[in-house]
Amino acid sequence: MMKYKKALVTGGAGFIGSHIVELLLDKGMEVVVLDDLSVGKKENIPNEVSLIRGDVRDRELVDKIVNDGVEVIFHEAAKVSIRASIENCYEDADINLMGTVNLLRACRTADVKQFVFASSMGVYADSPKPQPIDEDFTTEPASPYGIAKLAAEKYCLLLCREFNMRCAILRYFNTYGPRQTFTPYVGVITIFTRLMLEGKQPVIFGSGEQLRDYVHVKDVARSNILAMDSDHRELILNIGTGNAVSVNRIFEMLSQRINPDIKPRYEAERPGELKISFPDISRARNLINYKPEHDLKSELDSVIQYIKNNH
Ligand SMILES: NC(=O)c1ccc[n+]([C@@H]2O[C@H](COP(=O)([O-])OP(=O)(O)OC[C@H]3O[C@@H](n4cnc5c(N)ncnc54)[C@H](O)[C@@H]3O)[C@@H](O)[C@H]2O)c1
Repeated sequence: MMKYKKALVTGGAGFIGSHIVELLLDKGMEVVVLDDLSVGKKENIPNEVSLIRGDVRDRELVDKIVNDGVEVIFHEAAKVSIRASIENCYEDADINLMGTVNLLRACRTADVKQFVFASSMGVYADSPKPQPIDEDFTTEPASPYGIAKLAAEKYCLLLCREFNMRCAILRYFNTYGPRQTFTPYVGVITIFTRLMLEGKQPVIFGSGEQLRDYVHVKDVARSNILAMDSDHRELILNIGTGNAVSVNRIFEMLSQRINPDIKPRYEAERPGELKISFPDISRARNLINYKPEHDLKSELDSVIQYIKNNH
C-alpha cells in the first residue's frame, strides 16, 4: 500500500537514513535525499534516488525541495554526537535545532502531509534506577545535543498542528548495524569492533556498568515506515528493544567473538552521558504495532563481518 508518492529523507546518505530510503523504495515511493555528505556517503544510496548535496539550514534550497511535491519528510540529518555537542554547542544547535526549524518553516507553503522526526533517548533525564522509561519520563537533557533534540520536538509538534501536518517523533535508543559511520564518538558496538579488529584496546568511560538499549538499524528504519502507515496524527514513541545491556557486557560479547586477549582500558566518565537509559516500548507496540525483529546476540556476528568487509 502506498500512502504517499514522494518522500524527502534528510540525512538519507547516512546510517539510519539510508535504511529508511531502502524501505521507501521497496514501497514504490519516489525518494529525494538531502544530505551535505559531511558524514553520509553517496554509495549508501541506490542510483535511482535523487541525491541533493546541500545543507538543511539552506533556506532557498530547502524551500525548493519541500515545495516540489514532497508529501512526507523523514528528518534524519543531524550532527550526531553528545560529546561533540558539549565541545561545539553552537554548531550542534545550529544544525540540529535550526536545521529542523528551517525544514518546518518551508512546510508552511508546501503540500507535506506528515513530518517524521528522528529524536533521541538524549531528551530524557538519567533514570534513578534500572527500570525501563516510558515516553512520559522526565525530559531533562544532560547534553546540548539532547536539549536541541527536545526543543526541535516541540517545534515539530507545534508547527505540524499549525500547518495541519501529521507529526511523528521517534526517540531512537542506541542504534547499531551496517553502514554506521565510524567516528570516535558514536556507536559503541562499531567503535569497539573496529578497534578490536585492528588489535587495539578500546576505552570504556566510567565503570562500564552504564545500562543502554541497543537496537538494530533495520528495526529503527521500520519504525519510521510503521509511523508513516499508521493513522495517528501525533505520535511520540520510544524506539528500542526494551532490553538493558551494560557497556562491559558489550565489550565481553565482542571480545569473545573477535579476540579474547584484548582487555578494555577504563577512563573517567564523560559529561553528558546517561548512566541508565533503556526504554519501555509498549507505546510503539500498541500504537504502530512496532516489534523489534533483530536480537543483539544473533546480530553481532553479521555486524563484525560487515565491518571486516568494509574497513
Ligand atoms: N545512531 C544512533 O544511535 C542515534 C540514536 C538516537 C538518535 N539518532 C538520530 O538519528 C538520526 C540519524 O543518525 P545516524 O546515526 O544515521 O547518523 P549519521 O551521521 O550517519 O546520519 C546523519 C546524516 O546527516 C547528514 N548531515 C549532517 N549535517 C547535515 C546538514 N547540516 N545538512 C544536511 N545533511 C547533514 C550527514 O552527512 C549524515 O549523512 C540523527 O538525527 C540522530 O540524531 C541516532
